[in-house]
Amino acid sequence: MASSLSGARIRQTFLDFFAARGHQILPSASLVPEDPTVLLTIAGMLPFKPIFLGQREAEFPRATTSQKCIRTNDIENVGRTARHHTFFEMLGNFSFGDYFKEQAIAYAWELSTEVFALPPERVVVSVFEEDDEAFAIWRDRIGVPVTRIKRMGADDNFWASGPTGPCGPCSELYYDFHPERGEDNIDLEDDTRFIEFYNLVFMQYNRDAEGTLTPLQNKNIDTGMGLERMAQILQKVPNNYETDLIFPIIKTAADLAGIDYFKVDEKTKISLKVIGDHVRSVVHMIADGITASNTGRGYVLRRLIRRVVRHGQSIGIEGAFIAKVAETAIALSEAAYPNVRGRDNAIKAELEREESQFLKTLGRGEKLLDEILASASKGKTPVVSGLDAFTLYDTYGFPLELTQEIAAERGFEVDAKGFEAEMEQQRDRARAAHETIDLTVQGALDRLAERIHATEFRGYIEPSTSAQVVALLVDGHSVEEAGAGTAVQIALDRTPFYAESGGQVGDRGYLSGADVVVRVGDVKKESGIYIHYGQVERGTLRLGDAITAQIDRACRRRAQANHTATHLLQAALKKLVDESIGQAGSLVAFDRLRFDYNFNRGLTAAELQQIEDQINTWIAEAHDAQIAEMPIAEARAKGAVAMFGEKYGDRVRVIDVPGVSMELCGGTHVSNTAEIGLFKIVSETGIASGVRRIEAVAGPAVLEYLNVRDAVVRELGDRFKAKPEELTERVTNLQTELKNTQKQLEALQSELALVKSTQLLDGAETVGDFKIVVAELEGVDPGSLQAAAERLLQKLGEGAVVLGSSPEAQKVSLVAAFSSAANKKGLQAGKFIGSIAKICGGGGGGRPNLAQAGGRDPSKLPEALAEARQQLVSGLS
Ligand code: ALA
Repeated sequence: MASSLSGARIRQTFLDFFAARGHQILPSASLVPEDPTVLLTIAGMLPFKPIFLGQREAEFPRATTSQKCIRTNDIENVGRTARHHTFFEMLGNFSFGDYFKEQAIAYAWELSTEVFALPPERVVVSVFEEDDEAFAIWRDRIGVPVTRIKRMGADDNFWASGPTGPCGPCSELYYDFHPERGEDNIDLEDDTRFIEFYNLVFMQYNRDAEGTLTPLQNKNIDTGMGLERMAQILQKVPNNYETDLIFPIIKTAADLAGIDYFKVDEKTKISLKVIGDHVRSVVHMIADGITASNTGRGYVLRRLIRRVVRHGQSIGIEGAFIAKVAETAIALSEAAYPNVRGRDNAIKAELEREESQFLKTLGRGEKLLDEILASASKGKTPVVSGLDAFTLYDTYGFPLELTQEIAAERGFEVDAKGFEAEMEQQRDRARAAHETIDLTVQGALDRLAERIHATEFRGYIEPSTSAQVVALLVDGHSVEEAGAGTAVQIALDRTPFYAESGGQVGDRGYLSGADVVVRVGDVKKESGIYIHYGQVERGTLRLGDAITAQIDRACRRRAQANHTATHLLQAALKKLVDESIGQAGSLVAFDRLRFDYNFNRGLTAAELQQIEDQINTWIAEAHDAQIAEMPIAEARAKGAVAMFGEKYGDRVRVIDVPGVSMELCGGTHVSNTAEIGLFKIVSETGIASGVRRIEAVAGPAVLEYLNVRDAVVRELGDRFKAKPEELTERVTNLQTELKNTQKQLEALQSELALVKSTQLLDGAETVGDFKIVVAELEGVDPGSLQAAAERLLQKLGEGAVVLGSSPEAQKVSLVAAFSSAANKKGLQAGKFIGSIAKICGGGGGGRPNLAQAGGRDPSKLPEALAEARQQLVSGLS
């Protein structure tokens, strides 16, 4: 096979190789994992974790994927080493209890040395130090000389996806760039010589929270080949960034900056590489439905976008550019990941929005930093506090290094330790926010997960079922029994209770046994185990008890009405407003529903009315809702709407209201739209840039909502002594009356000012050929003050009038009116009044003959007027 393969060919060759060996090719899962313990998909095995743990049955004994992955733990190394990335593609072959070590090693060798044609003498392998079996397979079955088989410790050769969960010893294949350096001093850590390109994990244990390893029911294989690394080796380039998978993005960025990657200094190269890497991440994250925010995945996205913008600036790109670079990344990956092109407009819009916001933020941050430095310079030690540095980082996206850099230029230090402390607190907050199940229960669940099975969910087919208590927790501790009045968390072997997911809240209801009743207020699930949160009402509940679990059917009916209505809402938005509208989140509660979607403007009242009418028409038409399970490919082919970013299994549940709406959904629904009864929109608002929210009610909740409104109308009717239909007119009349009264008041005020100013005429002073009036009027608004000044000047003839007033606290109003002869003496009203207003802490200006100004300090008004008089006297005499 040719030695220089494109990245796309390498990907396809890998998948084809394993497909030919009985592996099912599966599409990449979303970057948003189903597994709630991880933020982003970090390895090809993640979608298969429940299979490894025996919680889900594998549909195929062998599978192969090219999985998009994101890891941000090493983000500072991106661009600085040859092979660190946030985004990368992991090629994997998986065996679920089918083949194991020997076959996995044989496949890896055949693929590497025969298909990809790596010279065998350039491949070095590592095995876990205790894994004699793997060592022997490499030596005897494959024939690798023992000098090129290295035993390594658990740090390197025992792989786990996290602190708990499936894991096992692994064996890694390394490529040797410099075999001439000899086999005596092989150091696999030396990355100038070796690159690890293929990891074979012999997945055979589950590790619990205490660190105990329990053998899994099946022995599995999980592997990962770094596509970018293989491309580096086969394309013979010095680092991953120069492969055809990434370099075109770098080229686009370099062109925008007007530079040549191969001619720039190291620092600029790093920036270009960071852009090349991060842009791939952000494109795929947004394609998978993530939007920038200040928490969780949204925060990772925002941080990556900001880093791209900053590095773009630092290599000299001016203004917005990220969408142009993203287009190159989209074009590069659209063949392998079609959802990227499908969402290209949304991706660019989100990027541009974040970018322009950040550019503004950067400007504001620079200003804030200026202020911080200015006030720090007044202190004894020129130090920027950790909190300030953190605020700059967190709110303005200023990385610590940037703050340090700018501070250092002006002779300041930054309290980096204080900054770290703030960061740590922020991480704690982020962790806490990420928990869905409360922490005490979470710990217990980790331990429980090894002894109890995933709960069998019966809630789609029956409202009540007999079940057994398989776990009983009080305050997160397993107990044998719990008496009346105790708050408990219960796991059952089977349950009709829906657990909070897909936006729909958990069911309520009761568990009842021979002498015991437990009221269930909420249900959540994790790793397939349903946790019923409740309170023992009567008797004593014991572990192992046989009980009847029964949901509150009225509550369920309400949730169903709201949930199906949410689907109708999405369908109506797509039909009536914009086909591209996609869901960004939802809440389906018993008394209301909420639907968030990506759209860049608010809806008009007419649009909202149309939507509401459309949905009520669908309800009245009494459409059957059909629910079916099918393979995901079939659902997609039928055009079912999926939520981007949501992870779906291989088989999905499709809720189909024929001709109206078809969505993938795990929630519970009405069987006919007529059951919804009524639908009413309550509000439409923007919740973040580009994200809108509609709140609405359906079913019995509509009546509750209308009753509240009705009570308000009745109350207003009582107060205004009007019938509901007369209220609008009555309020309009009142508003008109109020406006008229205000106008009259203003007229009276200026009348009053005139009267006062006429009195002032008598007090006019004569200066040379001119007459001047300088005076304070009490409580006169600026408009009336100006009218008074103009009128006064008219009566004076040639001269100057300066009036001041303080119409309200902390407000000064000044006006100057000069005749043209006064102008000829060099007095300009605009300039004049500006300098006078300064005395009262303000400013202003205007034409030479008439000008107004304001100020904030009424106590200075007498002083200002005295100064005005003084200037007039000296200017006109
Ligand atoms: N899951 C293994 C890894 O990520 C293959 O390296």
